[in-house]
Amino acid sequence: MTNNVRHFLTDLDLTQAEQTEVLDLAVAMKKDKYGYKPYAGPQTVAVFFDKTSTRTRVSFAAGIAELGGSPLIINSTESQLGHKESISDSAKVLERMVSTIVWRTYAQAGLEEMAENSNVPVINALSDDYHPCQLLADLLTVREHKGTLAGLSMAYLGDSANNMANSYLLAGVTAGMHVRIAGPEGYLPAAGIIAAAEARAAETGGSVLVTTDAAAALAGADVVATDTWVSMGQEDEKAQRMELFRDYAVDAAAMVHAAGDAIVLHCLPAYRGYEISADVIDGPQSVVFDEAENRVHAQKAIMAWLMAKSDLADVAGVA
Ligand code: CP
Ligand code: NVA
Repeated sequence: MTNNVRHFLTDLDLTQAEQTEVLDLAVAMKKDKYGYKPYAGPQTVAVFFDKTSTRTRVSFAAGIAELGGSPLIINSTESQLGHKESISDSAKVLERMVSTIVWRTYAQAGLEEMAENSNVPVINALSDDYHPCQLLADLLTVREHKGTLAGLSMAYLGDSANNMANSYLLAGVTAGMHVRIAGPEGYLPAAGIIAAAEARAAETGGSVLVTTDAAAALAGADVVATDTWVSMGQEDEKAQRMELFRDYAVDAAAMVHAAGDAIVLHCLPAYRGYEISADVIDGPQSVVFDEAENRVHAQKAIMAWLMAKSDLADVAGVA
């Protein structure tokens, strides 16, 4: 067992250099799909879902298998976790049986409790506050299309108090990007997230703009991103939310403000005609399906990297 176990709970858990190392590893793994076997044996990886999923479920299952491991996908309703058994007891059981714990849940605090009690890596597969695995895939996609990350400007429009907005902000500035977040008053990132992003930006040369002015956020942007206006768990607020964010849709009128060669990201699932218009998401600037595929490569890289950094596996390319 190791005392150096590394977890991936928020975008800030990787420094700029570490984020680059993970993205480099993802590129290598994309080129050599079956060449990395840190879970050879096969070792088992437990992947828990408290919320629904298509991409995260399939990309982790495929990625774990490609890394030589055996994915164990568990819907929370079919387990004791969080219902009949405490998170800390669950962690102490799981660490004796599996090599990594992946968890999609509501409260970030639950992931932190799992990590505090686990001697194997814990990965956040989406919480109410962050979606860091998605951002690794997004940054990999930007790098593929733009050749670089540092110095690019990235605008995110819409529900700017949700997990994707927080992750765009924190992962983007970690990469040295100029991140602009636009949403209505009351639906902007929390003060603590903005302060953390500004502190990270000061280290990397990135910058932060949080505004209610969508055009200001979009001005000359190299990357334009959005997300659903109704996140999982907010279904009761759907009607109100569809009105709230109307001025922050990514449509042809919005794209006029961005750079002519801007690329468009959306983590999916998308609601055409609401946060993004059909002509934009299905148009030539959209890279959303590259982004979806890159979930596999990025998550393989973070799983292998955490195993290597935790002294649980040797992985070529990780110091
Ligand atoms: N983008 C994403 O996490 O998709 P799923 O909810 O389908 O996993
Ligand atoms: N903000 C969305 C992301 C879905 C991948 C949600 O939490 O439902």
